[in-house]
Amino acid sequence: MDDMDEIICPCFDLKLKDLVDAIKKHNITTVEELSEITGAGTICGACNYELEEIVEKYKLK
Ligand code: FES
Repeated sequence: MDDMDEIICPCFDLKLKDLVDAIKKHNITTVEELSEITGAGTICGACNYELEEIVEKYKLK
């Protein structure tokens, strides 16, 4: 099981649960939308690969 308290984007101090909540709440289906809404991935970009995996895994199908 994924650790919801794991920090995915240290630049914004965003945990997995913050990203998953945003994905569900805003019906996000792309990393671009996730970045726009949460800021994730817009500073150093190191988390981008993980963001992609998270969007794929948690977006509403
Ligand atoms: S870790 Fe996400 S933008 Fe730096």
